[in-house]
Amino acid sequence: MSQPIILITGANGQLGSECLDAATREPQWNIIGLGREELDLENLDSIEEVMDDYKPDIIINCAAYTSVDKSESEKEKAERINGDAPKFIAKWCDDNDALLIHISTDYVFDGNNNVPYLETDDTNPVNFYGYTKLKGETKVLHEDKQAVILRTSWVYSEYGHNFVKTMLRLANERGLVSVVNDQFGSPTYAHDLAEGIFNVIRKYIANEYDKEAVKGIYHFTNQGMVSWFEFAQKIFDLSKTECTVLPIPTIDFPTPATRPKYSVLNTQKYSKAFGWEIPNWEDGLRRCLRNMKLS
Ligand SMILES: NC(=O)c1ccc[n+]([C@@H]2O[C@H](COP(=O)([O-])OP(=O)(O)OC[C@H]3O[C@@H](n4cnc5c(N)ncnc54)[C@H](OP(=O)(O)O)[C@@H]3O)[C@@H](O)[C@H]2O)c1
Repeated sequence: MSQPIILITGANGQLGSECLDAATREPQWNIIGLGREELDLENLDSIEEVMDDYKPDIIINCAAYTSVDKSESEKEKAERINGDAPKFIAKWCDDNDALLIHISTDYVFDGNNNVPYLETDDTNPVNFYGYTKLKGETKVLHEDKQAVILRTSWVYSEYGHNFVKTMLRLANERGLVSVVNDQFGSPTYAHDLAEGIFNVIRKYIANEYDKEAVKGIYHFTNQGMVSWFEFAQKIFDLSKTECTVLPIPTIDFPTPATRPKYSVLNTQKYSKAFGWEIPNWEDGLRRCLRNMKLS
């Protein structure tokens, strides 16, 4: 497979944009990025037709309904995009011997652990978004003999909407933010996740792994753990932004969707299988801010 066709869904989102950037370093690959206009995952009947048009060798499914709070009120839409559409993509991949890399979330867990979650730990989503993403995982694994699912967490990037950009905007507007300090996780730079995906693809193309043995779920986040409060402090510290950050408990910041208190993922399985030690979260943040010309 010297010139594989790689199709990226959700190409205008954070991860989709980072994948398109990463693809510029692989000029021999034929990259197709599809936004919602070209491939709308709500329209389940169109999925097979679009895949047939492009005939990709590899699909990176970055598209998702990612608004965690709105998922509580737009249930049907969230479930269709996150829970149902992946089944159709996975089926096409299985029928056509294409590799599917599907992205899932730490929110499949309930957050009651106090050590990093393993891929084999019981899932128990505490919000509807987590339920829809878990449904998507289950469908993908059921339909596809060789799909790789990467669960990630707290994603940010210079592209799209995310916590880093929200904090910088609020600092600018108000100079004071209150941030929860009793939810813990691993912030993940979408650039690193895109590299992690391409690392899998390179090994797949080079036939460096047994496709059916590799199939399954892997955790992929930047290393280390912080609270949202500590994350905000580090954003301001590294970007030299003046802002007062007040730590608050979750109970003082009510949201439509419940969040897990602890959603750190153990990433050893990925590192062992694909031979890459994922960078620390602070290192990722520093590089992101540098790319945003803020540090
Ligand atoms: N963001 C996080 O903190 C986080 C954490 C854990 C896991 N994840 C997972 O990581 C993956 C990438 O997320 P991200 O952070 O890159 O999210 P994002 O920036 O919100 O990008 C998602 C993309 O999906 C597209 N999309 C939404 N509905 C669609 C539809 N019906 N058809 C086609 N495309 C549609 C969006 O298009 P529009 O631009 O038109 O809206 C957007 O470009 C997702 O699977 C997400 O569940 C994210």
